[in-house]
Amino acid sequence: MKVLIVGSGGREHALSWKIVQSPAVQTLYAAPGNAGISQIGQCVDVDVEDLEGLADFAQQQQIDLTVVGPEAPLVAGITDTFVQRGLRIYGATPAAARLEASKSFTSELLRKYGISDLRFAIFDEPGPAKAWVRREGAPIVVKADGLAAGKGVKVAATIEEAEAHIDRCMVEGAFGASGKKVIIEECLVGQECSIKVFTDGETVVPMVPSQDYKRIGDGDTGDNTGGMGCYSPVPAVDPETFDYILNRIIKPTVQAMAEEGTPYVGTLYAGCILTDEGPQLLEYNCRFGDPETQVVLPRLETDLVEILQATVEGRLNEIEAQWRDERCVCVVVASGGYPGHYDKGKLISGLAEAEAKDEVVVFHAGTARRDDDFITNGGRVLGVTALGSSFRAARDRAYNAVRLIDFEKMYYRTDIALRAVEAEGT
Ligand code: GLY
Repeated sequence: MKVLIVGSGGREHALSWKIVQSPAVQTLYAAPGNAGISQIGQCVDVDVEDLEGLADFAQQQQIDLTVVGPEAPLVAGITDTFVQRGLRIYGATPAAARLEASKSFTSELLRKYGISDLRFAIFDEPGPAKAWVRREGAPIVVKADGLAAGKGVKVAATIEEAEAHIDRCMVEGAFGASGKKVIIEECLVGQECSIKVFTDGETVVPMVPSQDYKRIGDGDTGDNTGGMGCYSPVPAVDPETFDYILNRIIKPTVQAMAEEGTPYVGTLYAGCILTDEGPQLLEYNCRFGDPETQVVLPRLETDLVEILQATVEGRLNEIEAQWRDERCVCVVVASGGYPGHYDKGKLISGLAEAEAKDEVVVFHAGTARRDDDFITNGGRVLGVTALGSSFRAARDRAYNAVRLIDFEKMYYRTDIALRAVEAEGT
């Protein structure tokens, strides 16, 4: 069969890497893909938001299955566009993707179905929003309602910070239409983790949990990024916690979406926080996580294409996903300056040496080809990923591989998975 991946990051390289391992797959295309994906498939120059262009390509090439990475095309309606043309696609419909695209929709749904009792209020004017903040006090969380590239959420330590974020969203228009409405929530404290599931709208097949590192600096300092590293499993997610998140949060949400007449089909990503009172949902995403996918898929033993096809065909109840016991650690290698200004076009050396190491796979995120060489082409450049029988072994393998790689102003965090090594105590 022929598979088309939509997207260009490390997540899409990890999906491609796993998909080409399926005996059912003869040809992989990626739109637009990246230099890493071009080693195992054919990259085509169609933008992820050019929905008609992507559907034209899928039709011309007789693609059997399209798999969507990022949220933007899902929210824009790529699934409906493909289905209307009789094309098979893995990804949430825009009605279902509201779980990521509208935080107010999600909070109201969770309240309506008794899934969360978190205190929140929704505003479309800054005055009442600020009055609510002053009444509730800080710390408090202010969220732009819509998609904001991970920058719309502010955990405000003071009332002034909360008011400033309300102004950024609603007065300064920093997030465009996404910030016209804000949702203000009580602040939760605890360790974060994510659990993603495959769902056909009825059956839910969970993936293994993972934890990512959002801040640029060691010790969780500095600016927020798309994710600087990740590991799986998560020692803090014991079987009871996993069971609670799956059965008391995720499954009831999937059921609620079906009852609302907007069944959720695809990957649902639950970003959770483990508070002293138990797990709580922080956010839903309508897609695979990045870099979480880079540590989850290497642990998947089952053929991913079988799972994706069963999901799309509504027969996920036939699937039992098998996972490797090994730990997996991904260290993101970034361009110096990211998430602020950074240069592109730097020559990357040592990739082949890193990839030759046992149980190491290097996923490309922001790379391009220059003749026979690889060069940097983004903020997050590579996801250096390793498996091991313990977190220490996986982490050592990942960092040893990272140290073989070099480019001008290369940057990475040095503390990825350290807390998992400490928790495991090996
Ligand atoms: N790593 C967080 C995300 O994919 O949204």
